[in-house]
Amino acid sequence: MNNNVIQSTIDFAKNELAKYESGHDWYHTFRVWSVAKKIAEHEKADLFVVELSALLHDIADAKFHNGNEEIGSIVASKFLKSQNVSSEIIEKVVYIIRNISFKSEGIEKSKKTIEFQIVQDADRLDAIGAIGIARAFAFGGFKNHKIFDPEIPPALSMTKAEYKNHNSTSINHFYEKLLKLKDLMNTEAGRALALKRHKFLEKYLEHFFEEWNGL
Ligand code: ADP
Ligand code: NI
Repeated sequence: MNNNVIQSTIDFAKNELAKYESGHDWYHTFRVWSVAKKIAEHEKADLFVVELSALLHDIADAKFHNGNEEIGSIVASKFLKSQNVSSEIIEKVVYIIRNISFKSEGIEKSKKTIEFQIVQDADRLDAIGAIGIARAFAFGGFKNHKIFDPEIPPALSMTKAEYKNHNSTSINHFYEKLLKLKDLMNTEAGRALALKRHKFLEKYLEHFFEEWNGL
């Protein structure tokens, strides 16, 4: 039963995500799902909730729906109902989808279920390391942002509203978000993976600025 639901959730996510740019497409979801399963091996968690939440976490991103932050949970819950998933599980999954974003960092760790912690770590891991770098430039290109501009300093502390409307450069995004993620990891396994990817970001920036300065 659970395996059938997972398979139809994969099909649903593939189909729904087909219209997004490459940083938010099905393969982002696929990677989050894979890493979440890996992290879950080290934790006592409900794997069904972890998998469904990972597969549905970006099903309708607010950024692409005029900032509507409820739409993802509505789409996910409607889909899960159609699959006869119990309302108890749907509630757990919807809670995760609603709260997972970086902008909602206000939530204390004690209020995060272990399943939430795992999926959030997996989502954050996909924003750092080699893949994270590719996604930052893909997103920047999509938004017509510059790669880098020494005249535009990074904005290091922003409110939720400012973050959403922020027009910066892709390199600034490393300082505004990506380099902060390793310290925001919830799980031990997530932290270990983040550290490795963080080091790669630092190495990348070192080379970027060397080349920027003609070295
Ligand atoms: P979340 O929804 O978890 O807050 P986002 O949707 O903002 O995360 O980010 C998705 C991907 O797009 C990430 O890899 C992130 O680094 C990248 N991204 C988001 N905003 C920017 C930006 N201003 N410049 C470059 N990349 C960005
Ligand atoms: Ni995501």
